[in-house]
Amino acid sequence: MQTIGVIGAGQMGSGIAQTIAQNGLKVLLTDRDLAIAEQSRAGIERALGKLVAKSKIEVADAEAALARIEAVGDVGPMADADMIIEAATEKEEIKQAIFENAGKVLSQDAIMASNTSSIPITRMANWTPDAGRFIGLHFFNPVPVMGLIEVIPGLATDKAVTDRTIAFAKRLGKEVVLSQDEPGFVVNRILLPMINEAVFVLGQSTASMEDIDLGCRLGLNHPMGPLQLADFVGLDTCLDILRVIYRTTRDSKYRPAPLLVKYVEAGWLGRKTGRGFYDYSGDAPVPTR
Ligand code: CAA
Ligand code: NAD
Repeated sequence: MQTIGVIGAGQMGSGIAQTIAQNGLKVLLTDRDLAIAEQSRAGIERALGKLVAKSKIEVADAEAALARIEAVGDVGPMADADMIIEAATEKEEIKQAIFENAGKVLSQDAIMASNTSSIPITRMANWTPDAGRFIGLHFFNPVPVMGLIEVIPGLATDKAVTDRTIAFAKRLGKEVVLSQDEPGFVVNRILLPMINEAVFVLGQSTASMEDIDLGCRLGLNHPMGPLQLADFVGLDTCLDILRVIYRTTRDSKYRPAPLLVKYVEAGWLGRKTGRGFYDYSGDAPVPTR
């Protein structure tokens, strides 16, 4: 593999692009607007600068990694890419349009991967010209730090494509968990009910926001409490994931907590909008309830 196209330059696409470039591969990075891809590249430059300041990497390595990332206006320049990784908003209609469009320009042996958190891979494969080359490649946030990638072959994914994808994930220095194509795969099927339950606990005023997070940080030794983590992931993304799993399984345990719906409807999406369960406008996060 030499060139990877990354479609969607939000927090995940940015982390994915940075990680791939730091591991020696060229990245073509796009979003719905060239300016967003350029902002993402500028953010990656700052992130690499922080690693240099902490003496984690050499200046020359940071410069070389950045030089390997090109922000592009659409998928056109990805015609020769060996693989594309879609990391756009967790909405089926957005991802469907991306794959239908990309499928028209990609080479006939390019692997098409999605970083979806929950949408069934076998369903998504229908949106591409060749289901055999489609696969789930699920990174964790923040991508440069987290050591895991889930690989999810769909029903029709070719074995050779799965093997190449696993080799690619390992080349990025990550451990791989292979999951069957079941709603939420492995980790999110376990994580999202916990986050959702924390929002129910908050909605029922069982404890304060801070105590719910403190309880899980100290009582379970988690690095972040579930409400902090929900803000970190993005409340819209948490809600989208729960809705996909709930719609797919019809199992009431995945019904989204009404308070989570309310926060998303208010546009309080977490860290990325400056306000979620916590308000991030000051020096330290402040609970909103
Ligand atoms: N990008 C790159 N590096 C980052 C980073 C980011 N966004 N945030 C933190 N880091 C690095 C820091 O530079 C630091 O590196 P060094 O130790 O080498 O100096 C290291 O991570 C620790 O950072 P901090 O000291 O600033 O803060 P911390 O100790 O509180 O760690 C954290 C931050 C790594 C995010 C930690 O709080 C954590 O692990 N939280 C849980 C994250 C998690 O659960 N992620 C999975 C979410 S679910 C998911 O991703 C799947 C899905 O589909 C929703
Ligand atoms: P985000 O909101 O930070 O970024 C989404 C990006 O997609 C935005 O930049 C948006 O402009 C872009 N986008 C929207 N429509 C597009 C289009 N038609 N073409 C190209 N780009 C488009 O969200 P995120 O957290 O980066 O999540 C992206 C994907 O990664 C989702 O599928 C999500 O479920 C998955 N994911 C998220 C996390 C997480 O912790 N946030 C972890 C793993 C996987």
